[in-house]
Amino acid sequence: MKIFHIDASSKFHQWSNSRLLGKYFLERLHEKQPQIIIDYIDVTEDVQPHVTAEYAQAIYTLEAERTEQMRQVLKHSDAMCKRVLQADALVCAMPMYNWTIPSTFKTFIDCITRMGMTYDAKPGERSQGKLSDKKVLFITTRGADLRPGGLYEGMDAMTPVLKNSFLFLGIEEQKFVNAQPLQFADQAARVAALLRAKKELDQVAIEWSLST
Ligand SMILES: Cc1cc2nc3c(=O)[nH]c(=O)nc-3n(C[C@H](O)[C@H](O)[C@H](O)COP(=O)(O)O)c2cc1C
Repeated sequence: MKIFHIDASSKFHQWSNSRLLGKYFLERLHEKQPQIIIDYIDVTEDVQPHVTAEYAQAIYTLEAERTEQMRQVLKHSDAMCKRVLQADALVCAMPMYNWTIPSTFKTFIDCITRMGMTYDAKPGERSQGKLSDKKVLFITTRGADLRPGGLYEGMDAMTPVLKNSFLFLGIEEQKFVNAQPLQFADQAARVAALLRAKKELDQVAIEWSLST
């Protein structure tokens, strides 16, 4: 199984819980499937470009009609799409920033959402994602508690973005492990949140190792 592992926490690595949990998951999976291959990107260091006017024009120009300049503009996105297409599964670890995903992960999504490469579109029909043979695990870390009954219930704007962006690309097999509260809570609650997340990750590692 080939995994594309994406980290998106801007914190110093040793203090990042999403990085820690992503690593924890891959170690558990590796124990069960020593042959896994990992492709890795840290989108806070390898920051994906924002959508520009040139990019927006190039992506909607038919491949055969693209100029050399357009091809150059798309080079980076082409390469990133290929990395995603080569993977069997994606592991995306990220914190919640201002109730949604980090902007570095948003530009990653912009980069890999490409007509003709990761989805097909026909006029008058619903687009078809081309990544339907893949699965994705989202590991999210939150400072507050957004679970039902928690103080910030209803504030989660990251789950719908992640769910729908990858559903659009055809990935229906999605798992979410949300660690919370990790900041705006006492020490005992933070420790319990990490333990809960690790337990859920143990379970996903078992499921993934059995399904391939
Ligand atoms: C700029 C910034 C914005 C944040 N916004 C939120 C937020 O809206 N809701 C929340 O629950 N936590 C928020 N947090 C807290 C982080 O999500 C939390 O500390 C998380 O565990 C960080 O993950 P990491 O350790 O992998 O970086 C924010 C943190 C930062 C630095």
